[in-house]
Amino acid sequence: MTLYPERLINICPQASGYLRPTLLNSSPPNSAQPSSTPPAKKQAPSLPDFFSRYQNRIDNALRAELVGLEPAIYDIHRYYMGWQEIDGSDSNSMGGKRMRPTLAMLAADAVGGDLERATPIAVALEYVHNFSLIHDDLEDMDRVRHHRPTVWAVWGEPAAIVSGNAMLKIADAAAWKLREVGVEEDVALEAESVLTNHYLKMMEGQYLDISFETEVSVSVDQYLDMIERKTGALIEASIYLGGLVAPRSGPDRAKATALKAIGYDLGRIFQIRDDVLGVWGGEETGKPVGADIKRKKKALPAVHALSTSTGATADRIQEIFRSEGDLDEEDVHVVLEVMDDLGTQDYCQTMAEQRWVECKRMIESLELSGRTASEFTELGEFLLIRES
Ligand code: IPE
Ligand code: IPE
Ligand code: MG
Ligand code: MG
Repeated sequence: MTLYPERLINICPQASGYLRPTLLNSSPPNSAQPSSTPPAKKQAPSLPDFFSRYQNRIDNALRAELVGLEPAIYDIHRYYMGWQEIDGSDSNSMGGKRMRPTLAMLAADAVGGDLERATPIAVALEYVHNFSLIHDDLEDMDRVRHHRPTVWAVWGEPAAIVSGNAMLKIADAAAWKLREVGVEEDVALEAESVLTNHYLKMMEGQYLDISFETEVSVSVDQYLDMIERKTGALIEASIYLGGLVAPRSGPDRAKATALKAIGYDLGRIFQIRDDVLGVWGGEETGKPVGADIKRKKKALPAVHALSTSTGATADRIQEIFRSEGDLDEEDVHVVLEVMDDLGTQDYCQTMAEQRWVECKRMIESLELSGRTASEFTELGEFLLIRES
């Protein structure tokens, strides 16, 4: 079996100035130092252009929800959203991609709707997402996201729980404002109910994800069911809700439902790529790469390695995944080697690409307004190769 020391560097990039994962500081077992300088780094693909069309609207509306809120809990929120530093000073830190509100806006444009009508639900979706990340960081024991310490790593676990819960209520309150932008009561109620059902589904997925940590034989179907909940649900909801609430003449449910089907596929592609980045990603992810393996997460690479390895290799990695607690460095290294031998990265990437073929066909079959069909296509192509 060949050893690849550079992989060990990949699993723990310099996540931040403050919190450098301990694995980075030691050499992999039995490995030689890399003998040559690494190849020149490729430029990471940037977000599709249409993201910038909605950026100011989304940013202003997100900030407005926290303006004037004094108690310190909201400083945690402003920190996590990327607007403040830990000490409360202003920050221009790279927050998230704002993908879910952007999808809601794109869907609103796709049905020829009014962006103003879709803004409260777009804001709600981003706050639900960030609530889920505050808790996810704790659930996954991740100390770094976006190159910055996570809430529980700075303020502690109880603060992460309560500030996450509060952020979910900020989201609900934002959705309530659909009425203030002229969305009819019945449509607003429907949107709130869809939002609640989908974030509940997201929590079901998070629970499955956690419970799979202690299971060794998770099938691809079980994995897909889990990611469709933990990640797919909110992405689907984003596209559906933008399409539902935006038309001034009232909802076109058939069209919103057709858009939702695109969201279903995009959600799956998004999470498979996320799982690939979790093992083979670079510094751009802003997170310690390799943490999924260390925590025995049944992300797609682990599912593939555990279900396709045979003989002594299968025995070895099953034993590793059955061990108590987090994997140590040496075990992570063994798992990476097995994945390498099995072509796991190609398998994962191919699964995402296959899903994209179907999804692209679906996008082309819908009659979407203006440039939005080609923008959905641009997004799908970006999600297949994104680095962060
Ligand atoms: C990360 O989502 C969490 C998952 C559902 C995998 P994003 O990658 O969209 O997170 P941000 O908002 O850009 O940080
Ligand atoms: C996060 O999934 C999904 C939700 C927060 C609902 P992951 O745990 O796989 O995502 P990252 O890699 O931490 O962003
Ligand atoms: Mg996580
Ligand atoms: Mg997680």
